[in-house]
Amino acid sequence: MVMRLRSLAVNPTLKCWYKCRYCKLGVMEHNIPEGDAMLEFSDFERLFRQTREMVEPSFQVHIAGGEPLLYPRILDVIRAATDNELDVQIVTNGALINKRKARDLRKAGVARVGISIESRDAMPHDRIRDEPGSHQAAIRAIQHLSDEAPEIPIQVLTIINRMNLDFLVDVAEWATEDPRISGVTFGALSQIFAEMMPPRWWEVERPDVLWPRDTEYVHAVIDELIERKRNDLVSIGNPIEELRDYKRYFTDPSNFLTDFTCPAGELGIYIDPLGYAQLCGSMPPVGNIKTSSLEELWLTGEETARRRAEILACKSPCHQLLNCHRCAFQDSSEYDSVTPQRL
Ligand SMILES: C[S@@+](CC[C@H](N)C(=O)[O-])C[C@H]1O[C@@H](n2cnc3c(N)ncnc32)[C@H](O)[C@@H]1O
Ligand code: SF4
Ligand code: SF4
Repeated sequence: MVMRLRSLAVNPTLKCWYKCRYCKLGVMEHNIPEGDAMLEFSDFERLFRQTREMVEPSFQVHIAGGEPLLYPRILDVIRAATDNELDVQIVTNGALINKRKARDLRKAGVARVGISIESRDAMPHDRIRDEPGSHQAAIRAIQHLSDEAPEIPIQVLTIINRMNLDFLVDVAEWATEDPRISGVTFGALSQIFAEMMPPRWWEVERPDVLWPRDTEYVHAVIDELIERKRNDLVSIGNPIEELRDYKRYFTDPSNFLTDFTCPAGELGIYIDPLGYAQLCGSMPPVGNIKTSSLEELWLTGEETARRRAEILACKSPCHQLLNCHRCAFQDSSEYDSVTPQRL
């Protein structure tokens, strides 16, 4: 049986000038060699051509980063994907979206924009992002997109963490009421991106470790979100089963699924700015798109077969099961079927 590719995630750059408390990707970029090693436009062109040979039209390509709009030829990259009939979803902090960029994104054929916003109020958002004015910039991006590219749906992406717990129900209400926004999708805080942390990182006492310690309160907030979603009162993108998984995750992130089989080997591929391809973000790459075709990386490569076996043997559920794998489900009813053994 030929294994279906369900998702392709591409990070053209890890550059970012923000220093969000939970993400050090922008800092990490300085450690990456510049020049030939970074992916060039022709690499993306080839990748999307090869992708189209393996998937149906409207297959979703997820572009994030770093801040993806910092990649110099990002509009050409998007166009290369849409020219191959792929649907592009871009995730951004929004700060670089002015009127002109909104028009350009529309012309390039972007199917959906995700804007990371931690609260309707500026205060928690600016504190989490450690960037005064970042909330205002994100809201401005929503306005520009809605004025210049009204047919592009805007999804708010909000990471559940200690500093915005009091504001999550309000985010859900806002994303439902505001006609410019199609809804909110919640993610779960994980260890600081791009930082090596101890295995039980959530127990570390540091101002940038935003783990919510009051489990009962997290449960109460998530229950409220579930209740509102069940009654069709809010536009929340997550399936209810996933919100329930968040409750288990915030109870104990090392043990929120028992007897689970990780689906990472069957979901899709993540490509980093140097072209390395991963099935699981915590395991070594299966190859590089500069030297291997997507078909080799996904279907026929020896390293791919090895990694799939390692993934099936993985006994440590990680946040990627919640935050990353969701992108692979074009139909959210599939969410349950790929992690069949639950608590
Ligand atoms: C790494 S950012 C890249 C795109 C863009 N710079 C942005 O902020 O939207 C992608 C998403 O990861 C989220 N994120 C960053 N650090 C995280 C962490 N430690 N745990 C969970 N989500 C995180 C961000 O909030 C954002 O929604
Ligand atoms: S979450 Fe996004 S905006 Fe914040 S530092 Fe990371 S890449 Fe930059
Ligand atoms: S659960 Fe294990 S195999 Fe699956 S994504 Fe996480 S670390 Fe990788």
